[in-house]
Amino acid sequence: MGFPSVRPRRLRKNENIRRLVRETELSINDFIYPLFIEEGDNIKLEIPSMPGIFRYSLDRLDEELEQILNLDIPAVLLFGIPKHKDSVGSETWNDEGIIQRAVRYIKEKCPDLYVITDVCFCEYTEHGHCGVLHDHEVANDPTLENTKKQVVSHAKAGADMVAPSGMMDGVVKTIREALDNAGYSDIPIMSYSAKYASAYYGPFRDAAESSPAFGDRRSYQMDPANRREALKEVQLDVEEGADIIMVKPALAYLDIISDLKNSFKLPIAAYNVSGEYSMVKAAGRLGWIDEEKVMMETLTSIKRAGADIIITYHAKEAARILKNG
Ligand code: PBG
Ligand code: ZN
Repeated sequence: MGFPSVRPRRLRKNENIRRLVRETELSINDFIYPLFIEEGDNIKLEIPSMPGIFRYSLDRLDEELEQILNLDIPAVLLFGIPKHKDSVGSETWNDEGIIQRAVRYIKEKCPDLYVITDVCFCEYTEHGHCGVLHDHEVANDPTLENTKKQVVSHAKAGADMVAPSGMMDGVVKTIREALDNAGYSDIPIMSYSAKYASAYYGPFRDAAESSPAFGDRRSYQMDPANRREALKEVQLDVEEGADIIMVKPALAYLDIISDLKNSFKLPIAAYNVSGEYSMVKAAGRLGWIDEEKVMMETLTSIKRAGADIIITYHAKEAARILKNG
């Protein structure tokens, strides 16, 4: 059977029938909002390439937390900008470090907000790489040793979930063992399993002061040209005990999200990264696109591809639209 008896336009005739047959519904429940927390006082600094996104010191964070709670956003993902950097990123496992203090502060102020910590070293090392260097290369296993100290310190501070983003081999297994041994077997791991060496991270690196001082991250993050390798990376993370798997970036990697949805049973997170946000904002400012519509269409496409969770700088704006229509 085909045309003229089959006419797909019948199901697009008005908004009511479109609502009935709609396959994908974006929800505030899907969102994780990233927060940049800077060590210091009285800081609220807008990131030039990310309009609407700020670096906050803890003493200025309340206004942001209030908005997040009022909008019903379930979770935040914390990134720290420390005063002190060194060659190994030792501030990451300082129990009085910026992230540890931020977790304690947020959990005390807003016990119902779910707090996830990014687990990496690049914001904390002088060289800006995601671990310990040996001969200008990130050394995998020594970095794992430091990662244990970092996650246990985050857990002690009260983090609800940890999210390793450094793309070190064996990191999920290492973290699972470290948390279990320290009595935190109930803390889940959201692994940046398929994280690509992407130019879309540019604005984030300005925001978090985490650009590599030399070279790039292609010896640990994935080659954007690879698709099947994502299945291998995720398979390993699943075997090592990951609770949630992630694809990053999102928009240029929707095929990867879809592949994972078809191959794995774990919840899938997609990270709608800084460069994706900045492009929408820039074109919106120029009047070249309808910014709100493009934002909602983009987020919907990420969900349609298979993401259960979307980490996005648009979370507050999108939540406002979902709340008020
Ligand atoms: C650090 C990290 C990065 C992002 C999240 N964690 C940048 C990088 O790998 O250089 C990117 C987030 C974004 O662009 O929004 N490991
Ligand atoms: Zn890193």
